[in-house]
Amino acid sequence: MNFTTFYFSGTGNTRWAVREFARIVGEKGHQAEQVSIDIQTSLTDVELRGMIAQADAIGFANPIYGGDIPPIMGAFISRVVGLVRPQKMAKSAYAINTYGYVNAFGPTEMQKLLAGSGLTLSAYVNIRLCNNVTSSKPLDRAKLAKRMVKDQKELERLVDCLMAGRKRIKGHGPQLLIGAMIRKKVPEAIAKFYQTLGVDGASCTRCMACVENCPTGSIRLTGNRFVFSSGCTACMRCYNFCPNGAITIDGVLTDPQKFPRYQGPEA
Ligand SMILES: Cc1cc2nc3c(=O)[nH]c(=O)nc-3n(C[C@H](O)[C@H](O)[C@H](O)COP(=O)(O)O)c2cc1C
Repeated sequence: MNFTTFYFSGTGNTRWAVREFARIVGEKGHQAEQVSIDIQTSLTDVELRGMIAQADAIGFANPIYGGDIPPIMGAFISRVVGLVRPQKMAKSAYAINTYGYVNAFGPTEMQKLLAGSGLTLSAYVNIRLCNNVTSSKPLDRAKLAKRMVKDQKELERLVDCLMAGRKRIKGHGPQLLIGAMIRKKVPEAIAKFYQTLGVDGASCTRCMACVENCPTGSIRLTGNRFVFSSGCTACMRCYNFCPNGAITIDGVLTDPQKFPRYQGPEA
């Protein structure tokens, strides 16, 4: 079988899960493609349609933001639906969601987005790693390592179900209530998040890492100023990966020693 997973990963958790999924599929003697949906991948419609046509099952992998799908992935799924609907390609789809504490509505929303496209969500898995938003606490490595072992087992179960054609829909429960509360506030905060970002002129070396790595191409250097624009999906990559810790939030520059940046589960 051939599995193609389209993924978005702001800071590395989801990329780790997708790589693990691909490793497990490979060990079972099948094929797994991993395709980032960052703007830098710049897939044409023809390329995208071809990838979907060749796959036996299509995966969408993303972090959960505000109990929901991040805007960058929502837009990508809508694009896929627009491409496959006229072709009447009936295929199985799967979702890999990573989250920190409340997974909530990601899969439900994905089912809604895929409705009528010919892609049917047959399996999903929620992978709990850790929260990637700003924190003053050092990362609990031991806890994360334990979760990664558990997550590998979850991903193996997902692969087995997909190969056997068994439905696997798992992971809602009582979190829906908290998720509903978060969902009221977070989308608006995400949409406005770019307005809170800035660059500390004294720490910045103009290395351009933030501009080059922004998954939505929402950071530009205009003259002497960095401009953050509204396509920002609030992934925290610029903040977490600036080599000089020069990105400010609400005008505040936090010391990377005191406020460790999160750079993925394997950093
Ligand atoms: C803007 C934003 C909103 C988030 N909202 C949630 C949330 O509602 N529930 C949750 O459990 N984690 C939330 N998180 C944490 C991420 O889902 C989690 O850390 C994820 O694994 C990050 O994946 P990545 O490293 O692939 O970007 C949020 C993170 C960000 C940046």
